[in-house]
Amino acid sequence: MNELAGKRLLLGITGGIAAYKSIELVRLLRKSAAEVQVVLTGAASQFVTPMTLQAVSGRPVRQDLFDPAHEAAMGHIELARWADLVLVAPASAGFMARLANGFADNLLATLCLATTAPIILAPAMNQQMWANPATRHNVALLEQRGVELWGPASGDQACGEIGPGRMLEPEALLGQLQGRFAPGPLSGVRVLLTAGPTREPLDPVRFIGNRSSGKMGFALATAFAGAGAAVELVAGPVSLDTPPGVERIDVETACEMEQAVMSRVTGCDIFVGCAAVADYRPDAVAAQKIKKHNDRMELRLVRNPDILAGVAARTDAPFTVGFAAETQAAEDHAEKKRIAKRIDMIAANLVGAREGGFERDENALTLLWEGGREALPMMDKRRLAEQLVSVVTEHYLAARHPAS
Ligand code: CTP
Repeated sequence: MNELAGKRLLLGITGGIAAYKSIELVRLLRKSAAEVQVVLTGAASQFVTPMTLQAVSGRPVRQDLFDPAHEAAMGHIELARWADLVLVAPASAGFMARLANGFADNLLATLCLATTAPIILAPAMNQQMWANPATRHNVALLEQRGVELWGPASGDQACGEIGPGRMLEPEALLGQLQGRFAPGPLSGVRVLLTAGPTREPLDPVRFIGNRSSGKMGFALATAFAGAGAAVELVAGPVSLDTPPGVERIDVETACEMEQAVMSRVTGCDIFVGCAAVADYRPDAVAAQKIKKHNDRMELRLVRNPDILAGVAARTDAPFTVGFAAETQAAEDHAEKKRIAKRIDMIAANLVGAREGGFERDENALTLLWEGGREALPMMDKRRLAEQLVSVVTEHYLAARHPAS
């Protein structure tokens, strides 16, 4: 199967000696029957010529934001919409800084801002530039916004140094692109997730909340989308960017979250309750700001609906996965919750000052299901999410197609 046939790839080339390798990349992509539109930055044209790239791509190369002839044929916004994927190879340190800061001062940077297609960078630069704190910061910012980085590789550099900063070879980039367009194991599967905290208002200015950052749930949404699923993400108040290709529904309270979930759960295949839903809400919400009068004040709280248990109890229940954040004996408590809520799988994690969990970039989980368990050690939440999605996928597919 040729995954790249007919795919519309916008290949951005920025200024760096690795630009000469992009000519071969274009040739390989054309051989795979992809449509390739090359966009050169000014610095890139110091290394490779538009004429060469036009010849190998079969399309006039775009270079200027203000080119009347090209803009009349296909304006830059149209071009941004045309692309199924944007690959910038090589991506220089300067271009990454421009992108991280949202500048739209050349055609390629403008296209990256205007597109909704996935953006992938294949960095190439001197190893010191790659290690520089400014570049590290830009990389973290870009990754946090869903931009993918492929490479760089380590090895001999054009400048004579040795270290990380080499652009991946054209064949490797081609292989990654083929993998990117290959149908994922969850293609055609609908996933609904909750993430983040909820806020339960006391009055117009105060609420009861919790420390959930939403990072785990958002990482899971990204990983499910990466596995080919159609993902809907019901998010409490968090300051995180929506992962590419994910439909996000913002809510504030547990009741709003329940409503958003229940109105979308029909026909959904996998439900993951990753939100830290408040178990209780104030009995009454004061219409005006509550004034202090006495030394003591009592709040009356009422139970919120349990969204996860509600989903699992439906006759058309999807494969359900819950989370249990515990401060002690995590696995015991989690297993009890899994049975009580009648869910298929639960991810147990220890939370607290030292253990990770809330507000951290790393976490460790133990997955429990009927008759089995798997421990996922402490790692970056993005990698952890990918591993969790792969275990869920395996169990979901086995449940859907039981061995006869
Ligand atoms: N959950 C939910 N709706 C709620 C409460 C929790 O969907 N009202 C989900 C969470 O998203 C998570 C799991 O249930 O997947 C957590 O279980 P829960 O028993 O509520 O955990 P705790 O609140 O930590 O419970 P306890 O206070 O009993 O330890």
